[in-house]
Amino acid sequence: MTSNSLVSINELKIDVRITKSLRLKIVDSATFDVERGQILGLIGESGSGKTMLCRSLVGTLGRRGAYIAGGDLVFDGIDLITAKPSDWRDIRGKRIGYVPQSALAGPNPVMTIGAQLAEAIEQSENHDKDYIRKRSLELLEIVQIRRPEIVLKQYPYDLSGGMKQRVMIACAIAQQPSLIVADEPTTGLDVTVQAEIMDLLKRIRSEFSTSIILVSHDLPLINDVCDDIVVMHAGATVEKVSSAQVSHSLHPYTRALYSSRIDLVEPKGQLVTIKGQPPTVGQWPSGCRFADRCDFVVDSCRSASTVPLVSVAQDHMTACLRFDQIGK
Ligand SMILES: Nc1ncnc2c1ncn2[C@@H]1O[C@H](COP(=O)(O)OP(=O)(O)O)[C@@H](O)[C@H]1O
Ligand SMILES: [Mg+2]
Repeated sequence: MTSNSLVSINELKIDVRITKSLRLKIVDSATFDVERGQILGLIGESGSGKTMLCRSLVGTLGRRGAYIAGGDLVFDGIDLITAKPSDWRDIRGKRIGYVPQSALAGPNPVMTIGAQLAEAIEQSENHDKDYIRKRSLELLEIVQIRRPEIVLKQYPYDLSGGMKQRVMIACAIAQQPSLIVADEPTTGLDVTVQAEIMDLLKRIRSEFSTSIILVSHDLPLINDVCDDIVVMHAGATVEKVSSAQVSHSLHPYTRALYSSRIDLVEPKGQLVTIKGQPPTVGQWPSGCRFADRCDFVVDSCRSASTVPLVSVAQDHMTACLRFDQIGK
């Protein structure tokens, strides 16, 4: 943890209760820091534990029957693992804004945009109507929604997917949090709209110095926007690298994600996809969990008891036993 860290996550473990006696490990070693004012990309295939990590930062794991089973989770000096419900009321929304992974569902369908913004602005405070209206219009302007007076009276079904996502972001920044957790905010949107949302997040960061955790399964999409990239695979952080150095990644999984970039594919070329499937939760193999899909695998990758996340350069950590063979 550095003095500039806003969030510090170390060896975090998240389990889910399946039955009274059965527990499933969903995340078993998430390790990374988020610096103040940085955009950090959290990337990995579906099922790698990204949404569970996001939920741990807003204290909503319990709604999925999940809980923190070990490790450290600190936000701005506050231990989030021991935070009480009354502490969460001052953290969730106020200090950590959340754009949940529901791009397609979007905002609450039965509430007007104005009502939803009012709820996000008010939380536990008591503001008068004039203030709420003024702040709602201001928020819609920040997220670049045209004709905000009209939009306040509309319902989500009146809006396009991109506009809905802008509203979700407006709600997340309503209380000027120092961290926004945006879980796949552009999944399901078309490419132009995705780029606009990325620009918006960048602008929010530079205007308000907000730290942003930007979750995605699309490395090429977020690489340009993020300062650092954290790669999750089967419940574990397997690499943390600056976006400038992603092309020099020292983990075969990150390299595979990177080389499946659509924008690097020749017009008539085949899109490169990663062979095989990630291991299923509850059935993680021992040793390296990427071994079955890895071109660099040797016997010791499978027989290792653990594959530690080690520092390989300044601001670069990787969890590969053969990192010194990669990129040669
Ligand atoms: N309540 C639950 N019970 C059992 N498994 C769950 C539950 N919630 C999530 N999971 C499993 O945990 C894994 C990680 O989920 P999630 O954090 O949503 O992954 P991601 O966001 O990276 O796609 C997935 O395999 C998912 O099926
Ligand atoms: Mg998810």
